[in-house]
Amino acid sequence: MLGLGLAVSATLAPAQDRDPARAYVDALLAKMTLEEKIGQLNLVSVGPDYPKEAIMADIRAGKVGAMFNTVTRPDIRQMQDQVAHSRLKIPLFYAYDVIHGMRTIFPINLGLASTWNLDAIATSGRISALEAAADGLNLTFSPTVDVTREPRWGRASETFGEDTWLTSRIGATLVHAYQGKDLRAPDSLMASIKHFGGYGAVEAGRDYSNVDMSPQRLMQDYLPPYRAAAEAGAGAVMVALNSINGVPATANRWLLQDLLRKDWNYQGLLISDHGAINELVLHGVAKDTRDAAEQALKAGVELNMHDDVYGKQLPALLAAGKVTQAEIDQAVRDMLLTKYRMGLFDDPYRRLQGQDPADTNAESRLHRAEARQVARESLVLLKNEKAVLPLRKGATLAVVGPLADSPRDVMGNWSAAGVAAQAVSIRRGLENAVAGQGKVLYAKGANLLDDRDVLAYLNSYEPAVAVDPRSASELIAEAVATARQAEVVVAVVGESQGMAHEASSRARISVPDTQRELIKALKATGKPLVLVLMNGRPLALEWEQEQANALLEAWFPGTEGGNAVADVLFGDHNPSGKLTMTFPREVGQVPLYYNHLSSGRPFDAAKPNKYTSRYFDIVNGPLYPFGYGLSYTSFEVSAPQLSSATLKKGDTLTARVTVKNTGSRAGATVVQLYLHDVTASLARPVKELKGFQKVMLQPGESRELDFPITEADLRFYNNDLKLVSEPGEFKVMVGLDSERVREGSFTLL
Ligand code: NOJ
Repeated sequence: MLGLGLAVSATLAPAQDRDPARAYVDALLAKMTLEEKIGQLNLVSVGPDYPKEAIMADIRAGKVGAMFNTVTRPDIRQMQDQVAHSRLKIPLFYAYDVIHGMRTIFPINLGLASTWNLDAIATSGRISALEAAADGLNLTFSPTVDVTREPRWGRASETFGEDTWLTSRIGATLVHAYQGKDLRAPDSLMASIKHFGGYGAVEAGRDYSNVDMSPQRLMQDYLPPYRAAAEAGAGAVMVALNSINGVPATANRWLLQDLLRKDWNYQGLLISDHGAINELVLHGVAKDTRDAAEQALKAGVELNMHDDVYGKQLPALLAAGKVTQAEIDQAVRDMLLTKYRMGLFDDPYRRLQGQDPADTNAESRLHRAEARQVARESLVLLKNEKAVLPLRKGATLAVVGPLADSPRDVMGNWSAAGVAAQAVSIRRGLENAVAGQGKVLYAKGANLLDDRDVLAYLNSYEPAVAVDPRSASELIAEAVATARQAEVVVAVVGESQGMAHEASSRARISVPDTQRELIKALKATGKPLVLVLMNGRPLALEWEQEQANALLEAWFPGTEGGNAVADVLFGDHNPSGKLTMTFPREVGQVPLYYNHLSSGRPFDAAKPNKYTSRYFDIVNGPLYPFGYGLSYTSFEVSAPQLSSATLKKGDTLTARVTVKNTGSRAGATVVQLYLHDVTASLARPVKELKGFQKVMLQPGESRELDFPITEADLRFYNNDLKLVSEPGEFKVMVGLDSERVREGSFTLL
């Protein structure tokens, strides 16, 4: 599809002759029947149409390669025991969506990214791996390194936001954290990067729709994070459900072969997403399931998730000469190599050593302190008028809102084996914090929303959203009466976890009307109003920002969410989170992202001109830009001082800035470095993040920070899709968000 000329990375090339893994796997392969080989490509999950007993029989018959969604030690052991009854006794591996925690749930990924703290993110990944491996799991379908500029897309919640560079770093960090130093270690978890590629750009943010974009944008903005995570050593890649410029990823030879295998020299396992091979028929590129299986295998899809299309179709395709034995063997070899890397041939029970816990959900298995620490850092203070926050612990607070007392929602979507009863709601977190001092009064105040069809949608698989049968006015009256008895009102509003999930695209990215009515009534009481927002995507919050005295973005903060929110609301932790996705004012502005290309008629708010790139019916620009977030103290950052006016390839230029805590509390902030290529052969982004440092400063303290800049930071894909840098002027911008920056410049020689 694209004529790409990327260099092959020699360092990843396997030493095939001497590699004991390959020798082992090839010897095993030589003993396998066709049926056993194809069985290895079958990734199955227990379900109503495929009960446990049937799967166990298939394992004994050598027809299963791996399982997903079987997640406790006794269940995994029972399955692994069946292997002993199969002819070749090839162990299974066990996979699960461990996305932001296994038993201890950390903030959703958009929240994790908002910490801008790679150590904190690594902690979440390491603990996820420890807990998942302790349950017997071998692989997680994570990290999701899809870049997205689409708040309508529910899966924005699973991403790290809109920035390519930041997502690349987070993806690589998580791969290292999950996998540890040695994949065979009993506490390591193999990472499977997803969804390759470009899933975050699904048209109009509608889940499962398609991706159609210029090759430059794809290569420059959307694909680098997959490469970074692959080069960090991720053992597997999950192939996306979407098509790219018309070719579904699952049948996309350019994507999987030319780019991933050849240019990036990727050696791991390629896994289809759920049902994706069959879906090639509905994409309209395969005439039937057999054709779909042929195309997927030839493109390089190896492990078939869920529908066993390979099991049903490959024998006939081979007999008809449509696929070759070598193509099947290659897929099986990669599957066996994956198991070898996991250490399963040495010991199929590697993750199942020792006694099983008496109680799988035991409190002692959780890592609460770490979850609280990470969650505190993920919270983003969006507004704090007249320092209404932090609150006094001696005060009487009214806590209201449909999300205030919902431990299930606190955990967010994809909450793996997290148990809602172990999660701390916002109400409970506030009660814990004020114990023995102030008072916390509670009223629900509103239902999440009142559209019956939407409620039915959200409750279609589990009773996720509880509906209070009282009328809206009764609920509001109770909340208002509660607010009147309090000094401050904390309203917890936004989305339920199911509203920001897979298959949860929204055309309206606002707080639902029932909750807005509640906010209006609370505002009318005249009490200071603090909104704590729970949501998994940027919402359009212009109205809420006018009503509230303070706004705290809590995302879905995880098991310890309520305690973390209380830490911030009471000032035991000074907030330092920063947004990694732009918050628009209105959905009509979407896509709205900070690193858009330069235009010929940029809008300038200081000199507004009709014939510039703008909307005439709203204030232009975002409500909250990328990189934005407040603190209880204030910071100042100096203009960057450059170590040289010029940069040569091979050299490093340093941008030095001084950041100062100008307020009266200790606090952390994130100093961000952006670059801009002033004149190039293609229009370039107005700015691009290329560095950041998070620093903790005492009141009055200042610190000098150095940001290295090299020629590699200036490269982009040109019109011939070559990764190049072009000599000329570059701007260096430094700030505490992406909008308010101070500039310097240098010339690339
Ligand atoms: C489909 C989702 O797209 C993917 O992210 C997930 O890993 C699989 N289902 C398995 O649950």
